[in-house]
Amino acid sequence: MYPDHVAIIMDGNGRWAKNKGLPRISGHKAGVERLKSIVEFTTNCGISYLTLYAFSSENWNRPKKEINDLMNLLSLFLTNEAKNFLKENIRLRVIGRRDRLKKSIIKKIEELEINSSTNDGLNLIIALDYGGREDIRSAIINIYKEFSINNMSIEKLSLKDIEKNLMTSGIPNPDLIIRTSGEYRISNFLLWQSAYSEYEFVKCNWPDFDNDIYLKVLKSFGTRDRRFGKLNEL
Ligand code: FPP
Repeated sequence: MYPDHVAIIMDGNGRWAKNKGLPRISGHKAGVERLKSIVEFTTNCGISYLTLYAFSSENWNRPKKEINDLMNLLSLFLTNEAKNFLKENIRLRVIGRRDRLKKSIIKKIEELEINSSTNDGLNLIIALDYGGREDIRSAIINIYKEFSINNMSIEKLSLKDIEKNLMTSGIPNPDLIIRTSGEYRISNFLLWQSAYSEYEFVKCNWPDFDNDIYLKVLKSFGTRDRRFGKLNEL
Protein backbone atom coordinates (compact mmCIF):
# COMPACT_ATOMS: atom_id res chain seq x y z
CA MET A 1 0.00 0.00 0.00
CA TYR A 2 1.15 3.51 -0.78
CA PRO A 3 1.46 6.07 2.01
CA ASP A 4 -1.35 8.59 2.39
CA HIS A 5 1.08 11.41 3.16
CA VAL A 6 4.58 11.65 1.70
CA ALA A 7 6.95 14.41 2.83
CA ILE A 8 10.23 15.12 1.06
CA ILE A 9 13.43 16.91 2.06
CA MET A 10 14.63 17.89 -1.41
CA ASP A 11 18.36 18.02 -0.76
CA GLY A 12 21.42 18.12 -3.01
CA ASN A 13 20.64 20.74 -5.66
CA GLY A 14 23.92 22.51 -4.98
CA ARG A 15 26.00 19.32 -5.18
CA TRP A 16 24.21 18.26 -8.36
CA ALA A 17 25.19 21.58 -9.96
CA LYS A 18 28.76 21.45 -8.60
CA ASN A 19 29.27 17.93 -10.01
CA LYS A 20 28.34 19.29 -13.41
CA GLY A 21 30.50 22.42 -13.08
CA LEU A 22 27.36 24.60 -13.07
CA PRO A 23 26.33 27.47 -10.75
CA ARG A 24 24.16 26.51 -7.74
CA ILE A 25 21.12 28.21 -9.27
CA SER A 26 21.17 25.65 -12.10
CA GLY A 27 20.77 22.95 -9.45
CA HIS A 28 17.77 24.75 -7.96
CA LYS A 29 16.24 25.18 -11.42
CA ALA A 30 16.68 21.47 -12.09
CA GLY A 31 15.16 20.93 -8.63
CA VAL A 32 12.01 22.81 -9.59
CA GLU A 33 11.65 20.69 -12.74
CA ARG A 34 12.01 17.54 -10.62
CA LEU A 35 9.49 18.91 -8.14
CA LYS A 36 6.92 19.38 -10.92
CA SER A 37 7.26 15.84 -12.21
CA ILE A 38 7.16 14.37 -8.67
CA VAL A 39 3.94 16.31 -8.00
CA GLU A 40 2.43 14.84 -11.17
CA PHE A 41 3.58 11.32 -10.32
CA THR A 42 2.24 11.62 -6.76
CA THR A 43 -1.15 12.69 -8.13
CA ASN A 44 -1.21 9.73 -10.51
CA CYS A 45 -0.43 7.34 -7.63
CA GLY A 46 -3.56 8.56 -5.83
CA ILE A 47 -1.55 9.73 -2.79
CA SER A 48 -3.55 12.34 -0.84
CA TYR A 49 -0.85 14.56 0.70
CA LEU A 50 2.59 15.65 -0.46
CA THR A 51 4.69 18.01 1.68
CA LEU A 52 7.85 19.50 0.19
CA TYR A 53 10.57 21.24 2.20
CA ALA A 54 11.44 24.15 -0.09
CA PHE A 55 13.10 26.64 2.29
CA SER A 56 13.95 26.16 5.94
CA SER A 57 14.11 28.78 8.72
CA GLU A 58 17.88 28.27 8.63
CA ASN A 59 18.19 28.79 4.85
CA TRP A 60 18.11 32.57 5.49
CA ASN A 61 21.74 32.13 6.58
CA ARG A 62 22.82 31.39 2.99
CA PRO A 63 24.46 34.09 0.86
CA LYS A 64 22.05 36.88 -0.16
CA LYS A 65 22.45 36.05 -3.86
CA GLU A 66 21.34 32.44 -3.36
CA ILE A 67 18.35 33.52 -1.24
CA ASN A 68 17.32 35.98 -3.97
CA ASP A 69 17.70 33.32 -6.65
CA LEU A 70 15.58 30.87 -4.64
CA MET A 71 12.88 33.50 -3.97
CA ASN A 72 12.78 34.43 -7.67
CA LEU A 73 12.42 30.78 -8.61
CA LEU A 74 9.66 30.39 -6.06
CA SER A 75 7.86 33.42 -7.40
CA LEU A 76 8.10 32.09 -10.97
CA PHE A 77 6.95 28.67 -9.81
CA LEU A 78 3.88 30.13 -8.09
CA THR A 79 2.97 32.15 -11.18
CA ASN A 80 3.59 29.42 -13.74
CA GLU A 81 2.04 26.58 -11.81
CA ALA A 82 -1.03 28.51 -10.66
CA LYS A 83 -3.22 27.50 -13.59
CA ASN A 84 -1.87 24.00 -13.56
CA PHE A 85 -2.78 23.49 -9.89
CA LEU A 86 -6.35 24.52 -10.56
CA LYS A 87 -6.59 22.39 -13.70
CA GLU A 88 -5.10 19.35 -11.95
CA ASN A 89 -7.49 19.72 -8.98
CA ILE A 90 -4.53 20.29 -6.61
CA ARG A 91 -5.07 22.11 -3.32
CA LEU A 92 -2.05 24.18 -2.29
CA ARG A 93 -1.12 25.13 1.24
CA VAL A 94 2.04 26.81 2.46
CA ILE A 95 3.36 26.23 5.98
CA GLY A 96 6.02 28.35 7.66
CA ARG A 97 6.50 31.96 8.69
CA ARG A 98 5.12 34.55 6.32
CA ASP A 99 6.43 37.74 7.91
CA ARG A 100 9.91 37.44 6.39
CA LEU A 101 8.69 36.79 2.82
CA LYS A 102 8.29 39.50 0.16
CA LYS A 103 4.79 41.00 -0.04
CA SER A 104 4.45 39.97 -3.71
CA ILE A 105 5.17 36.33 -2.81
CA ILE A 106 2.73 36.37 0.12
CA LYS A 107 0.05 37.74 -2.24
CA LYS A 108 0.64 34.93 -4.76
CA ILE A 109 0.53 32.30 -2.01
CA GLU A 110 -2.70 33.67 -0.55
CA GLU A 111 -4.35 33.81 -3.99
CA LEU A 112 -3.34 30.24 -4.80
CA GLU A 113 -4.48 28.97 -1.40
CA ILE A 114 -7.88 30.60 -1.80
CA ASN A 115 -8.36 29.68 -5.46
CA SER A 116 -7.42 26.05 -4.89
CA SER A 117 -9.21 25.66 -1.54
CA THR A 118 -12.18 23.75 -2.97
CA ASN A 119 -9.99 21.36 -4.99
CA ASP A 120 -10.18 17.82 -3.70
CA GLY A 121 -7.29 16.17 -5.54
CA LEU A 122 -3.71 16.12 -4.23
CA ASN A 123 -3.06 18.25 -1.15
CA LEU A 124 0.27 19.89 -1.92
CA ILE A 125 1.94 21.48 1.08
CA ILE A 126 5.02 23.63 0.54
CA ALA A 127 7.16 24.26 3.62
CA LEU A 128 8.61 27.71 3.16
CA ASP A 129 10.56 29.57 5.84
CA TYR A 130 9.55 26.52 7.86
CA GLY A 131 11.25 25.08 10.92
CA GLY A 132 9.86 22.42 13.23
CA ARG A 133 11.07 24.28 16.32
CA GLU A 134 9.45 27.52 15.12
CA ASP A 135 6.25 25.54 14.43
CA ILE A 136 6.20 24.33 18.05
CA ARG A 137 7.15 27.77 19.40
CA SER A 138 4.30 29.51 17.58
CA ALA A 139 1.87 26.78 18.71
CA ILE A 140 2.91 27.45 22.34
CA ILE A 141 2.24 31.17 21.90
CA ASN A 142 -1.23 30.51 20.42
CA ILE A 143 -2.07 28.03 23.18
CA TYR A 144 -0.90 30.44 25.87
CA LYS A 145 -3.15 33.18 24.46
CA GLU A 146 -6.15 30.83 24.10
CA PHE A 147 -5.76 29.44 27.61
CA SER A 148 -5.22 32.87 29.20
CA ILE A 149 -8.23 34.47 27.50
CA ASN A 150 -10.48 31.59 28.49
CA ASN A 151 -9.00 31.27 31.96
CA MET A 152 -8.25 27.59 31.35
CA SER A 153 -5.92 25.50 33.47
CA ILE A 154 -2.74 24.51 31.56
CA GLU A 155 -3.02 21.04 33.13
CA LYS A 156 -5.93 20.47 30.76
CA LEU A 157 -3.69 20.86 27.69
CA SER A 158 -4.15 17.87 25.38
CA LEU A 159 -2.11 16.53 22.46
CA LYS A 160 -5.03 17.53 20.22
CA ASP A 161 -4.77 21.13 21.48
CA ILE A 162 -1.12 21.15 20.43
CA GLU A 163 -1.82 19.56 17.04
CA LYS A 164 -4.51 22.02 16.16
CA ASN A 165 -2.18 24.93 16.87
CA LEU A 166 0.65 23.63 14.68
CA MET A 167 1.07 25.01 11.16
CA THR A 168 -0.04 21.62 9.84
CA SER A 169 -3.39 21.76 11.62
CA GLY A 170 -5.92 19.62 9.72
CA ILE A 171 -3.19 17.80 7.77
CA PRO A 172 -2.50 14.18 8.80
CA ASN A 173 1.00 13.31 10.03
CA PRO A 174 3.42 12.17 7.30
CA ASP A 175 3.55 8.40 6.82
CA LEU A 176 6.80 8.51 4.88
CA ILE A 177 9.60 11.08 4.91
CA ILE A 178 12.13 10.89 2.10
CA ARG A 179 15.46 12.71 2.10
CA THR A 180 17.66 12.80 -0.96
CA SER A 181 21.42 13.41 -1.31
CA GLY A 182 22.64 10.74 1.10
CA GLU A 183 22.39 12.85 4.27
CA TYR A 184 20.88 11.18 7.34
CA ARG A 185 19.30 14.14 9.10
CA ILE A 186 15.85 15.57 9.74
CA SER A 187 17.08 19.21 9.61
CA ASN A 188 14.26 20.75 11.66
CA PHE A 189 11.51 19.35 9.40
CA LEU A 190 8.10 18.40 10.89
CA LEU A 191 9.60 17.55 14.30
CA TRP A 192 6.33 16.95 16.14
CA GLN A 193 4.51 15.46 13.15
CA SER A 194 7.18 12.86 12.34
CA ALA A 195 6.95 10.96 15.66
CA TYR A 196 5.81 7.78 13.87
CA SER A 197 6.86 8.50 10.28
CA GLU A 198 8.83 5.96 8.31
CA TYR A 199 12.07 7.29 6.83
CA GLU A 200 13.80 6.61 3.54
CA PHE A 201 17.20 8.11 2.77
CA VAL A 202 18.23 7.94 -0.86
CA LYS A 203 21.72 8.55 -2.20
CA CYS A 204 20.94 10.59 -5.30
CA ASN A 205 20.70 14.37 -5.32
CA TRP A 206 17.21 15.86 -5.66
CA PRO A 207 17.44 16.70 -9.40
CA ASP A 208 18.24 13.01 -10.06
CA PHE A 209 15.34 11.68 -7.96
CA ASP A 210 13.31 10.28 -10.84
CA ASN A 211 9.96 8.49 -10.96
CA ASP A 212 11.60 5.03 -10.95
CA ILE A 213 13.49 5.73 -7.72
CA TYR A 214 10.37 7.32 -6.22
CA LEU A 215 8.26 4.28 -7.11
CA LYS A 216 10.82 1.94 -5.52
CA VAL A 217 10.71 3.99 -2.31
CA LEU A 218 6.90 3.99 -2.32
CA LYS A 219 6.83 0.22 -2.79
CA SER A 220 9.37 -0.33 -0.03
CA PHE A 221 7.11 1.66 2.32
CA GLY A 222 4.46 -1.02 1.70
CA THR A 223 6.74 -3.62 3.29
CA ARG A 224 7.28 -1.69 6.54
CA ASP A 225 5.77 -3.07 9.72
CA ARG A 226 4.23 -0.03 11.40
CA ARG A 227 3.24 -0.78 14.97
CA PHE A 228 2.92 2.71 16.47
CA GLY A 229 4.25 1.35 19.77
CA LYS A 230 1.75 -1.53 19.88
CA LEU A 231 2.25 -5.26 19.36
CA ASN A 232 1.06 -6.83 16.12
CA GLU A 233 -0.51 -9.91 17.64
CA LEU A 234 -2.93 -7.92 19.80
C1 FPP B 1 18.61 21.72 -1.03
O1 FPP B 1 19.69 21.75 -1.90
C2 FPP B 1 17.50 22.43 -1.53
C3 FPP B 1 17.02 23.62 -1.06
C4 FPP B 1 17.63 24.43 -0.01
C5 FPP B 1 15.85 24.19 -1.62
C6 FPP B 1 14.91 23.24 -2.28
C7 FPP B 1 14.45 23.97 -3.41
C8 FPP B 1 14.04 23.51 -4.59
C9 FPP B 1 13.81 22.12 -4.98
C10 FPP B 1 13.78 24.49 -5.66
C11 FPP B 1 13.02 25.65 -5.22
C12 FPP B 1 11.64 25.31 -4.81
C13 FPP B 1 10.61 26.03 -5.16
C14 FPP B 1 9.24 25.64 -4.72
C15 FPP B 1 10.81 27.18 -6.01
P1 FPP B 1 21.02 22.40 -1.35
O2 FPP B 1 21.11 23.75 -1.94
O3 FPP B 1 21.02 22.35 0.14
O4 FPP B 1 22.05 21.43 -1.96
P2 FPP B 1 23.49 21.10 -1.34
O5 FPP B 1 23.25 20.54 0.04
O6 FPP B 1 24.02 20.08 -2.29
O7 FPP B 1 24.26 22.36 -1.34
